[in-house]
Amino acid sequence: MKKIKTITCIGAGYVGGPTMAVIASKCPEIKVNVVDINEKRIAQWNDADVNNIPIYEPGLAEIVAETRDKNLFFSTEVDQAIDEAEMIFISVNTPTKTYGIGKGKAADLKYIELCARQIARVAKDDKIVVEKSTLPVRTAEALTSILHNTGNGVKYHILSNPEFLAEGTAIQDLLKPDRILIGGDSDTQEAREAMQALVDVYAHWLTDEQILTTNVWSSELSKLTANAFLAQRISSINAMSELCEKTEADVDEVAKAIGMDSRIGPKFLKASVGFGGSCFQKDILNLVYISQSLGLQEVADYWEQVIIMNDHQKRRFAQHIVKTLYNTVSGKKISLLGWAFKKDTNDTRESAAIYVSDYLLSEHAKIVVYDPKVSSEQVYADLEYLGTHDPAFIREQVKVVSSPTEACFQAHAVAIMTEWNEFNTYNWKEIYQHMMKPAFLFDGRNILNRYEMKEIGFEVYAIGKGPSIQIA
Ligand code: NAD
Ligand code: UDX
Repeated sequence: MKKIKTITCIGAGYVGGPTMAVIASKCPEIKVNVVDINEKRIAQWNDADVNNIPIYEPGLAEIVAETRDKNLFFSTEVDQAIDEAEMIFISVNTPTKTYGIGKGKAADLKYIELCARQIARVAKDDKIVVEKSTLPVRTAEALTSILHNTGNGVKYHILSNPEFLAEGTAIQDLLKPDRILIGGDSDTQEAREAMQALVDVYAHWLTDEQILTTNVWSSELSKLTANAFLAQRISSINAMSELCEKTEADVDEVAKAIGMDSRIGPKFLKASVGFGGSCFQKDILNLVYISQSLGLQEVADYWEQVIIMNDHQKRRFAQHIVKTLYNTVSGKKISLLGWAFKKDTNDTRESAAIYVSDYLLSEHAKIVVYDPKVSSEQVYADLEYLGTHDPAFIREQVKVVSSPTEACFQAHAVAIMTEWNEFNTYNWKEIYQHMMKPAFLFDGRNILNRYEMKEIGFEVYAIGKGPSIQIA
């Protein structure tokens, strides 16, 4: 049985970086190359100060410090790294298409195809190619077709090994996953050995029970299914949150009550201003597109509703701010605490804060943002990317500051957009004293004790809480 000595990962992003760092740490005898075409990103991964690596994830810097330049290497030399490796992970981005057929829904597979063509061009000996990116079911077929038609006699085994880590807990999720999923062909001895080679990598720190092997199509589809189910739970509880607000039921109490049913379970039932992140929306849209392409319109409609509900949740939060502030926020200072799509990450992709701000900008609000991990340039880039407002207007209306006190000073309203732990530790009495009155507080994450906030003097709105505790 072949033991892997060199692994290459194409794509040094939120998945490739942390995943390979953990593999390098757990498999000291394997050389792990992480390559990317983004020179700036690679330079950051190689920064002498490990705190400057491009991704903030608790525990990641420590693992990189321990493995980098020992058996973990970051580089832009993609050809060389392909040539060297027996096993190649493809962990490049697979965003929603913004052009052509499937625009707005289908996954854009151009980066995946470029990787496959590059491997086909460079490889001189047999390779195991691992799909780490999230891909539409049956992508392995396209990869096989590209790789096997080069005519240079190199043999490829294609495996699907989707990643289930969540940002903010990536290292814990990688060290102690609920399961690792490996999809592959078991028809031939060689194919079974390829699958076993990947199982052996994970077996350095996981048990047989944690490593699930399936056929390649089940593995590809399981990833989209997992994300669809997770996002569906959030949209379901968010739908109930609106009903709670009309009926004086409390969404956290409802979530607790249903979550104690072991068939439902307590996780992923936290009502919020709407889910964000680079995965849920993209993967569900991809599922919707695949279903439509196969003529399964009802299946497509069913899953699309998860996105429709999420868009509604973000919009109604923003609308509620405007309505509460006497139907106008024009020229008023609205302080947004949090810009990342969840706590403990600097990732802002699809963050609810972006959409709420975009809406408030249309109402000419003056927005001040504070996030402990997100840079001002990122905030501006996110708003400009939407294309709703002129960049000059955005820079005029939006200010990004480095302290919560500054963000809230003389604000008409404060809105909590991300559930950062530090928001609970602030001196809210002092914040209240320096705000305009009445001082409005919109808790998009239900992290503050609303009774205490009311006692301080705030007019509190919390997602999914009955009208008696809303505006007094
Ligand atoms: P990312 O954008 O952070 O990283 C992708 C990297 O690939 C970029 O740095 C880009 O420069 C690089 N790249 C693109 N084309 C390349 C090429 N031809 N050669 C070399 N490098 C190239 O993306 P990510 O968040 O790491 O996601 C990667 C994949 O993993 C996606 O399919 C995503 O759906 C999936 N995924 C993401 C998460 C997550 O939490 N972010 C979790 C599970 C799965
Ligand atoms: C998700 C999946 O959880 C992970 O398995 C997959 O590999 C990638 O996509 P991620 O997007 O990093 O991970 O974070 P996740 O914890 O799933 O949160 C996604 C969004 O849902 C965040 O905006 C979060 O705040 C929100 N959320 C999550 C809720 O609003 N309520 C919840 O109960 C849980």
